Amino acid sequence: MPNTVSSNQAYPSINESEAWYARAADLIPAATQTLAKGPGQYVRGIAPKYLRRGKGSHVWDVDGNEFIDYQMGIGPLSLGYCYDAVDRAIQEQLRDGITFSMMHPLEVEVAELIREAVPRAEMVRYSKTGCDVTSAAVRLARAYTGRNRVLCCGYHGWHDWYIAVTDRNAGIPQAVKDLTYTFSYNDIDSVIDAVDDDTACVILEPVVFEPPRDNFLQKLRELCTSRGVVLIFDEMWTGFRLATGGAQQYFGVDADLMTYSKAIANGMPLGVLAGRAEIMRLCDRDVFFFTTFGGEALSLAAAKATIREIRDRNVPAALHAQGRKLREAYNAAAAELGMGYTRCAGMDCRTLVTFDASAGNPLEVKSLLQQELFKRGILWGGSHNMSFSHTDADVAYTIEAYRGALPVVHEAVKSGTPGRFLKGIPVDPVFRRTGNFNTKPAVHAGGR
Ligand SMILES: Cc1ncc(COP(=O)(O)O)c(C=O)c1O
Repeated sequence: MPNTVSSNQAYPSINESEAWYARAADLIPAATQTLAKGPGQYVRGIAPKYLRRGKGSHVWDVDGNEFIDYQMGIGPLSLGYCYDAVDRAIQEQLRDGITFSMMHPLEVEVAELIREAVPRAEMVRYSKTGCDVTSAAVRLARAYTGRNRVLCCGYHGWHDWYIAVTDRNAGIPQAVKDLTYTFSYNDIDSVIDAVDDDTACVILEPVVFEPPRDNFLQKLRELCTSRGVVLIFDEMWTGFRLATGGAQQYFGVDADLMTYSKAIANGMPLGVLAGRAEIMRLCDRDVFFFTTFGGEALSLAAAKATIREIRDRNVPAALHAQGRKLREAYNAAAAELGMGYTRCAGMDCRTLVTFDASAGNPLEVKSLLQQELFKRGILWGGSHNMSFSHTDADVAYTIEAYRGALPVVHEAVKSGTPGRFLKGIPVDPVFRRTGNFNTKPAVHAGGR
């Protein structure tokens, strides 16, 4: 019998998932279109691999097992699966058409909504993915400043300019690799060291899990202003989630350009580039940023409904409130058990469970907790990506599940060989990091 969230006593049956995976093996490189959704992020042999349906905060896999989802599509399901107000808007638009031969009024309506909600969103453009809009922002910054170098910190998508700084950069010309540099979050000196007279922009997620310290964002703003560098906030995760106006509003710091995607259309594919008119105006002509599906109307209808819902129902407050309960309960349960090696941290709308090396191999320990949570009906990748559909009952159930799973993990850690308690293959390291991987020193004469 498939697992349901309320009655799980056994690891889920995953035969159908495995059968689909076998069909993909020789057909789809890496098997997945999104690394974070792929098999490497879940305990192989225990976790399902394919989902078929979702409603609210719950999903059902291809074997019929039900889970409370804390990944939420890796971010986009800010309101929840099959959220009525958004689905209605999509269905109504579907009756009139999806993609048109001329512009659609929704392009204007959604831009107006964004301008009202987001500080400094004086002008707005659309595309389909997060990567589209971060890349457009970088191109705009280069055009505006007449400079070439990019400083970044974190993950910004698959295009050449960014992925050049990772260890998955095959196929990117050296000349492109030589233009992107990384700095360390919360380390203003690492940015000061890296900025030179050829620096076009600093692009970063205003916050990931570690909150800004010592006015880091304010200092970054001042540095960029004084050095003539364009400050780009990649608000893929923070936009419309930390606050309706995103991190700019939450932290009271203005960027020059901002990019959004996850959270803005409740699962429909939409990327948004917004920012100061003086820079955005370059997209009128000289900076070419046009694409066939940029004004696709189903996604814009979804965005209109989603943004209104987020604004009118104060969705960010609800995300923070539910996320805070989980964070505090996790940390309390870990403390009671004497598990000083694990904690749940982050902004409450999106928190992360971490294990330090004293627990043993952190990937094995994470995998063990994941394994025990799958058994209890929770789809868990290490973080709590809160949605407006996570109910009090979901949260209470999840806290109980942690209280059941954490003692299993603790016993395994105390044994000194937590990996032995795994019934499958542990998860792979997560690809994105906000640390100073591949930081390049300031090499240009103008540095500092
Ligand atoms: C902070 C951030 N920026 C950019 C991207 C790229 O977005 P996409 O995968 O839609 O291209 C992501 C995707 O996870 C992201 O988390």
